[in-house]
Amino acid sequence: MPDKVILAYSGGLDTSVAIKWLKDKYGFYVITLTVDVGNERDFSSIRSKALKVGASKALVKDAREIFVDKFVFPALQANAVYEGQYPLATALSRPLIAKLLVELALEEGASSVAHGCTGKGNDQVRFEVGVASLAPELKIIAPAREWGMTREETIDYAQRYGIPTPVTIASPYSIDENLWGRSIECGVLEDPWLEPPEDAFSWTKSPAAAPDEAAYIEIGFDKGIPVSLNGHEMKGTSLVQRLNEIAGDHGIGRIDIVENRLVGIKSREIYEAPAAVVLLEAHQALEALTLSKPQLHFKQIVALEYADLIYNGLWFSTQHHDLSAYTQSTQRFVSGTVRLKLFKGKCSVVGRKSPFSLYSHSLATYDKGDEFDQNAAAGFIHIWGLPVKTQSQIQPPEENKQG
Ligand code: ARG
Repeated sequence: MPDKVILAYSGGLDTSVAIKWLKDKYGFYVITLTVDVGNERDFSSIRSKALKVGASKALVKDAREIFVDKFVFPALQANAVYEGQYPLATALSRPLIAKLLVELALEEGASSVAHGCTGKGNDQVRFEVGVASLAPELKIIAPAREWGMTREETIDYAQRYGIPTPVTIASPYSIDENLWGRSIECGVLEDPWLEPPEDAFSWTKSPAAAPDEAAYIEIGFDKGIPVSLNGHEMKGTSLVQRLNEIAGDHGIGRIDIVENRLVGIKSREIYEAPAAVVLLEAHQALEALTLSKPQLHFKQIVALEYADLIYNGLWFSTQHHDLSAYTQSTQRFVSGTVRLKLFKGKCSVVGRKSPFSLYSHSLATYDKGDEFDQNAAAGFIHIWGLPVKTQSQIQPPEENKQG
């Protein structure tokens, strides 16, 4: 019996060519695994394509619920956003796919797993570090990194062996999609000076073409997890899907950044992430209401580290384990409702409420009913300023001046 390899299969050109290549080069018995993370593909034709191209077995796994509940929502609770803008859709799906590859490899007694990533991106790192942390004994093969073929040569190879070259080759972009967002790269987007053409977008209307009337929505959270939309309880996958539609229709969620890849390259990236943008805004608004100032401020530092570790492929690390424990603890009272206005590409929080709100109207108001003791402020300022006042008396201010 030949050795078995589990190949993460998207149905695209590279992974299709990889089936044939893995059989020819290594004599493997190839089992493909296609993971549905909400990328709305025709999974039955992807499956038949794998078999047609030469896979011995082709499996499709619906992992949408695990993806949203165990990967996306914990990242939302942490407010994990890379370099200030990228909600990490692609990055979050990779550890899940790595985990499913490993589970299948162990079930099938396979010696190896394989993926179709090139040697220039982050995804190779995420798959391989993920697999290595879960099953260090498995071998990992990256055909598209090893074979050294250009895109043209890969197409030739495909044609030579009767591997159907999909129409998507005509698409000038490289696209990765899941429920948390759509990542678009390549083609004219590689020029960071050029505005992305309208055809790069498919989930979002251009803000100019969005409805002239604003939409108001309400999102309910329970311990930092979104649980309802406009008063209707919904499971995570449906809520995210619905929000992608509503916010996308209002032109929300387009992101255009130059980002620092882990492998040292700066790359221009376009994302569409309507639900992610709305939920991150809403979640942070609810935290502003329910967390103390030091919790909120420290959590912002944790969020940066959290986003980096997701981006850098360290989901299955002890650092993640520990930061996740902290994050979960902060979410105990992050429950309530946030009201948002969606209008022409902009999502604004316009209301928030919570049974655990720390906002006190009688302390904040400038109107009647003010319970804040303004006279106490004088003593507070006296003591708060004491160290700087003392220092200024002893060490003259001219020499301490910052500017
Ligand atoms: N730059 C993003 C990331 O590293 C998106 C990658 C998109 N991947 C792709 N295969 N098109 O997470």
